[in-house]
Amino acid sequence: MKSFLLCALSLVSVAADRVCNNSPSLCSKPYDTITHFGAHDSPFLRDQSTSFSSFGNQFFNSTTQLDAGVRLLSTQIHVATNENDGKRELHICHTSCSLFDAGPLQNWLWGIRGWIDAHPNDVVTILLVNYGNADAREIEEEYSKADIAHYGYVPQNINKAVPLSNETHPTWPTLSNMIERGERLVTFVNPVKPDKENAPYLLNEFTFLWENAYAISDPKNFTCQPDRPEHQTIYGMHKSGRLFLMNHFLYWQQAFGIQVPDVRNINSECANQVTRQPTFVLVDFFNVGAALKSIDIFNKVEQPVGRPNVTGMVVIGGRVAVERTSEAARPTMRFGHGRPSLKPGSDELPPATGQKEG
Ligand SMILES: *[C@@H]1O[C@H](CO)[C@@H](O)[C@H](O)[C@H]1NC(C)=O
Ligand SMILES: *[C@@H]1O[C@H](CO)[C@@H](O)[C@H](O)[C@H]1NC(C)=O
Ligand SMILES: *[C@@H]1O[C@H](CO)[C@@H](O)[C@H](O)[C@H]1NC(C)=O
Ligand SMILES: *[C@@H]1O[C@H](CO)[C@@H](O)[C@H](O)[C@H]1NC(C)=O
Repeated sequence: MKSFLLCALSLVSVAADRVCNNSPSLCSKPYDTITHFGAHDSPFLRDQSTSFSSFGNQFFNSTTQLDAGVRLLSTQIHVATNENDGKRELHICHTSCSLFDAGPLQNWLWGIRGWIDAHPNDVVTILLVNYGNADAREIEEEYSKADIAHYGYVPQNINKAVPLSNETHPTWPTLSNMIERGERLVTFVNPVKPDKENAPYLLNEFTFLWENAYAISDPKNFTCQPDRPEHQTIYGMHKSGRLFLMNHFLYWQQAFGIQVPDVRNINSECANQVTRQPTFVLVDFFNVGAALKSIDIFNKVEQPVGRPNVTGMVVIGGRVAVERTSEAARPTMRFGHGRPSLKPGSDELPPATGQKEG
């Protein structure tokens, strides 16, 4: 009895001390009421490994993104051929595998699995843009080979979103629920025909999510209205239970002073229209500008736990980019001596190409 009590007590204290997705306060929150910070085109890097390709949408790889607080990773999947046996194989490529091939999907998933293994109190989301039109079984094979399928979150109904959680009626599980069940990986695929039998964790994106427009280059044109699915209203999307994914590719411009930084204006404008914090925010160059800060504001997280300072990381990326490229319009981030600092408002960064695929 005594040992049972002790055991029960220690379980309680483990749960009480738990830090979920960098904050103790997030453990008890339903998944859909949190803002998950997303790296758009997560594995497509603009760094030395890609000779600073203009296709790169991020300076740092997916596991470094996760270390820094990113919890949503988006990528594209395409059909390619195995270089040894010539067989069909799913790869992660930007736009086309002949232009930018970041390798087999399963290799990328392996890296993420390693990270999830090492971070038992974190919930991660993957968004796959299914250019290759792979079916659920083929994607499931990749997940199985990477031994990551068992982490997959399985909803009660794969064909329909539950109503949105509110203060009194949680509908999605809390992060703690998901951690306790071991279902710490949520995967959305655009598109996929649901296959409850073979891959109950591969969720068709627009059954569960809606997005605002993603190809906006002028901040004045930024809008929170639904763009996908098409011809919908915010009200209709709320009623359907779909979660809001906010595309926010404008960050880099604003952070680098081409436009007046008005991250909060956009956020509050959006919050007013949507009357609910977005469940996902997706950005290019996640570490640049005020993106992470605004996620913390949404989540009311004042003191994130177990997350390295992102500012220092910006500078490392900037320095590498400056050293290795000769184009005049490249980043001119200041990284002087001593404590490096980023100077928003005085710098300019070239845009990532190929944003239009969403
Ligand atoms: C990501 O980059 C870090 C730092 O460069 C490196 O240590 C790590 O192995 C990389 N992760 C993967 C999955 O390649
Ligand atoms: C919360 O959600 C429940 C069911 O999903 C609904 O009946 C209730 O009216 C909602 N409460 C508020 C305050 O919106
Ligand atoms: C912004 O929207 C206006 C009106 O819809 C359009 O005419 C203009 O071309 C858009 N600007 C950009 C940069 O897309
Ligand atoms: C991160 O930066 C802030 C502000 O510059 C500083 O107060 C804090 O100590 C830093 N944290 C770490 C872990 O370096």
